[in-house]
Amino acid sequence: MATDQDQEVSEAQIAVHWREEEYYYPPAKFIGQANANDPAIFERFREEDFPECFKEYADLLTWDQYWKTTLDTSNPPFWKWFVGGRLNASVNCVDRHLATSRNKAALIWVPEPESEETQAITYQELYKRINEFAALLRGFGDVGIGDRVTFHLPMVPELPVSMLACARLGVIHNEVFGGFSGAACGGRIADSGSRILITMDGYYRNGELIDHKAKADEAVAAAKEQGFEVDKVLVWRRHPGQYSSKTPMVAGRDFFVDELMHEYAGRLVDPVSMPAEAPLFLMYTSGTTGRPKGCVHSTGGYLAYVTGTAKYYQDIHPEDTYWCAADIGWITGHSYIVYGPLSLGTSSVMYEGVPLYPDAGRMWRIAERLGVSIFHTAPTTIRLLRKFGPDEPKKYDYHFKHMTTVGEPIEPEVWRWYHEVVGKREAVIVDTWWQTENGGFLGSTLPALQPMKPGSCGPGVLGIYPVIYDEERKLVEVGSGRAGNICIRNPWPGIFQTIWGQDERFVETYYAKYCRDKESKDWRDWPYLAGDGAVQAADGYIRILGRIDDVINVAGHRLGTKELESAALTVDEIAEAAAVPVVDELRGRAVEMYIALKPGLKPSKELEEKVIKAIEKEIGKIARPKNVWIVTDMPKTRSGKIMRRVIAAISNFTDIGDVTTLANPEIVDSIRHQVQTEKAARGEVPRELTPQEVEEMKRFGQAE
Ligand code: PRX
Repeated sequence: MATDQDQEVSEAQIAVHWREEEYYYPPAKFIGQANANDPAIFERFREEDFPECFKEYADLLTWDQYWKTTLDTSNPPFWKWFVGGRLNASVNCVDRHLATSRNKAALIWVPEPESEETQAITYQELYKRINEFAALLRGFGDVGIGDRVTFHLPMVPELPVSMLACARLGVIHNEVFGGFSGAACGGRIADSGSRILITMDGYYRNGELIDHKAKADEAVAAAKEQGFEVDKVLVWRRHPGQYSSKTPMVAGRDFFVDELMHEYAGRLVDPVSMPAEAPLFLMYTSGTTGRPKGCVHSTGGYLAYVTGTAKYYQDIHPEDTYWCAADIGWITGHSYIVYGPLSLGTSSVMYEGVPLYPDAGRMWRIAERLGVSIFHTAPTTIRLLRKFGPDEPKKYDYHFKHMTTVGEPIEPEVWRWYHEVVGKREAVIVDTWWQTENGGFLGSTLPALQPMKPGSCGPGVLGIYPVIYDEERKLVEVGSGRAGNICIRNPWPGIFQTIWGQDERFVETYYAKYCRDKESKDWRDWPYLAGDGAVQAADGYIRILGRIDDVINVAGHRLGTKELESAALTVDEIAEAAAVPVVDELRGRAVEMYIALKPGLKPSKELEEKVIKAIEKEIGKIARPKNVWIVTDMPKTRSGKIMRRVIAAISNFTDIGDVTTLANPEIVDSIRHQVQTEKAARGEVPRELTPQEVEEMKRFGQAE
C-alpha cells in the first residue's frame, strides 16, 4: 500500500557513514586443518560456472539414482534442483555412516538437570530408533509419502528421531517450536493438514518440568476451530513409563509412544527412495500478513546445500564434536543440528535447557566435558552470557576451533567478547546471515580464506551472488555507503520451493518486486528479495540492517506485527493495536504494543495484563510484550493507516521525522509525552542508538 512517506526521498538514497571495523584473521592452526583452505574453491564457484558448481555439494550425498538436470528453470520462480535424482535423507544422515562409524556418537544429548546423565546415541542406536519409529508411524499412524505430520517437540532426541523417521517414509515433517502456544501450533496443524500431532508430556526448562501435553489439547481444539480434525496425538514421555502432565489422555486419540513401541521394537523399514524435488519438511515463519507461511523445503537440493555449507562454512569434520545451541524448532536447528552435521557423520550435541541454568557456567561446563570443538549460537545468547557471566569462560578448559553466530545482527563489542573471551582468541568466527526460507547460509566468510569483520556477515557464500537494489529498482553500488534491499540474483539448491498452499503469495512476496520479466524462463530475471535492508562495503562485505517488512526479530525469532496485533484484538475492549520493535539490551529487539480502547472505556493495568495474556496464548511466551501502552488514538495517515514508524520512534527515543502529513499530527506529541515520561520514570531510556538501528526504525512499517 502506498503511504504518504513514499513521497519523501527514498531511504536508500541517503548515504550513511558507517564506521568500518578492522579485519581479524584466522589462526594458522585452523587454516591448516580446514575443509576449505585452497582459494581454488572460489574458481569452482564462479558465476560462469553456475549452476553446475553445485554438483560439488550434491556429490557429498549418496544418491539412489543420480540426477540428470542440475537446475530446471522451466517454471520460474519454482526452481527444481537435481532433477531425475532419487535419494533418502535418513539414509544420508544415518545408514550410510554405519559401515565405518556404527559405534560413534551421532547425537549427544544433555538433559537440563545436571543430575541426569548425558546420553550418547550412536549411529547404530539412532538407526534403530528411527526404524522403529518409522514402523510405528506407518503401521499405527497409517501415514505415507507426501502426508504431513506436525510435531510440537522440545529439545529431546525424540525430535531428530521423529524427523528422520518421517524422512525415511517420505512423510513431510512440520516441527513447531516447543515454546509456541497450543493455539499457534493448532494453526499450523490446520494449515498443513496434519492428521497426526506428535508431542511430549513434559520437558525441563529453567529447573522446572513443564507440562507440555496441555498445549496439545489446545492445539487440537484450535485446529478444530479452523475446521480441521486431528486423528491421533502421539505422546513421547520425558521419563518413559511415567506421565508428567496433569492433562488427561483422550481415549482413542492420545497414545503413549513408549507403550505402542512394544509392537514395533526391532522393526526395520526400507527407506523410500524420494525424488530430489519431493518436499522433506515444512517450517512455518511469520510474514507481513497474519497467516503464517509454511516454507516447503526439498529433499535433494536442501540436503545438498546444508551438507556443503556445513562442511565448508562450519568446517565440520567427522572427528569434531559440534554443538549448535539453537533449538531444532527453528530452521537453524533443522539445518545445522540435524541434517547438515549428521549427513557429514559428525557428533552433534543437543542441550535440553536454558543457557543460564543452574548458573552462568553451564554452557562452558558442557563444552569442557564433551570436548566441543565447534560452537554455534545467536547474538541474544551471547549477550546474555556476557551480561551474567563475563568471566565464566576462562574458568573452563575447553577449546573451540570455530564459532558461529546467527539470527540477528551482532554488535561489534559483543562480537569481540565472543572472540576474546568465549573463543579465547583461538577460534574463527563465522557470522551467518540467512533465513527460514533459504535452507542454509547466504552471507558469511569461508573461515580459513576470508578474514572476519565484526558486525558484517561477509560476502555472499559460495554460489550466492547478492545484489542491493533501491526502491526504484536501481542498483545500489557496492561501496557507495548507501543502504537498500538485499536480493540474491540466482537460485540455489537450499531455496524453499513455495509457501505451502500459497503459490501466489510465494511469487508476490519474494519475486514480484524486482522481477524483470514475468514471462522469462531465465533465472537472471528473477532476483530473490530477502526482505532485509543491507549495505555492502567496498570489500563486498554485507552489513544487515534488519527487516524491511513488518517483522520484529526478537532474540532471533521472527514475529509478525499482524500476528501480534490480531492476538491483542482478541481482547474485547480493544479497538486498535499496533506492534513496534524497541531496542533491547539482551534480546536485540523486544515488542511494544500500542492499544486504543473502544469508546467509553478507561485504561487500566488489568487491560494491559489482558493484552499480554492474549499474546502469550495466541503466539507464546517469546512474544510477550515489554510494554503495553494504552493511548487515546493512533497516529494515522490520511488514508487511515497506523504510522508504526512514528510510534517506533517514540518507543526508541529517536527522531520522529516529519509528521505534518498525518491526519492527526497533534496526537504524536501527546503519545510521546505519555510514553517517554513513563519510560524515564521506569529507567527505560535506551542508550543512544547506532546508525544501523536508527536506519532500521526509520524503515519500520514502510513496506506494507
Ligand atoms: O533479518 C535477518 C535476520 O533474521 C531474519 C531471518 O530470520 P529467520 O527466518 O527466523 O532465520 C533465522 C536464522 C537463519 C533475516 O531476514 N538475520 C538472520 N541472520 C542474521 C540476521 N541479521 C543479521 N545478521 C545475521 N547473521
